[in-house]
Amino acid sequence: MAKKIVIASGKGGVGKSTVTVGLGMALTQLGKKVLLIDCDTLRSLDILTGAAEKIVYDWGDVMLGRCKAQEAIYSAMGMSLMTCPKTYKGVSLKNMALLIKLVENDYDYILLDSPAGIEIGFILASFVADRGLVVSTPDSVCVRSVCTTADEMSKYNVKDIRLIINRADKKNIKKNLMLNIDSVIDMTQVQLIGLVPEDEKIRHSSMKGTIYKKGQISYDAFNNIAARIEGKNIPLEV
Ligand SMILES: Nc1ncnc2c1ncn2[C@@H]1O[C@H](COP(=O)(O)OP(=O)(O)OP(=O)(O)O)[C@@H](O)[C@H]1O
Ligand SMILES: [Mg+2]
Repeated sequence: MAKKIVIASGKGGVGKSTVTVGLGMALTQLGKKVLLIDCDTLRSLDILTGAAEKIVYDWGDVMLGRCKAQEAIYSAMGMSLMTCPKTYKGVSLKNMALLIKLVENDYDYILLDSPAGIEIGFILASFVADRGLVVSTPDSVCVRSVCTTADEMSKYNVKDIRLIINRADKKNIKKNLMLNIDSVIDMTQVQLIGLVPEDEKIRHSSMKGTIYKKGQISYDAFNNIAARIEGKNIPLEV
């Protein structure tokens, strides 16, 4: 049965969808079968994985009986992908749990990309997840929202909640233009599982449908996070 991981943040635009794809690809490289489920009605994952053109059905269609679960699953860069309906009409926690039951035996990991905030998409993803990743950039506004997000996740019985600090830029941290990593960990009280550096190549990735590529500076970061999720003891690169 798949391990189900919600990827969330209080603030928007911090890199949840980027991390979902990068981590999914790193887990795939470890030989794992990965299903990405986009829980954000604004949808990113189909674009980020280059699968947008072929999408016909989303998981809302499965819930409404318009198609079978398998018909709403698309292959995307070696992973599988289910996209989000454009509205949450007809969606309930019970239906979400039923949807997961239909697919969880076919995968090692299901990564649930939450929208920003702690509203419906976040609740749906957290309700079915057994583990959680909270993504933050190293700035005070974003860091403040991490605790709230982690607390909300716990209410849905999500265990093993870990922090990913994204867009960590050593030069800016040195110049005190960004919070240093120790401060972020102290402020959030959520255990760190990895840092993803600022990576210029990621910034342009939505145009090319690639986030995770050998030679990019974020490549090892995604591999390390995937290995830690798999239980390997990889020292943190703080
Ligand atoms: N490590 C990184 N280095 C450089 N750019 C990044 C990095 N991570 C994310 N970005 C860029 O930041 C922007 C937002 O990323 P992304 O869409 O993954 O955030 P999000 O948290 O999913 O946003 P939303 O809250 O809207 O769902 C994108 O342009 C992405 O390319
Ligand atoms: Mg997103």
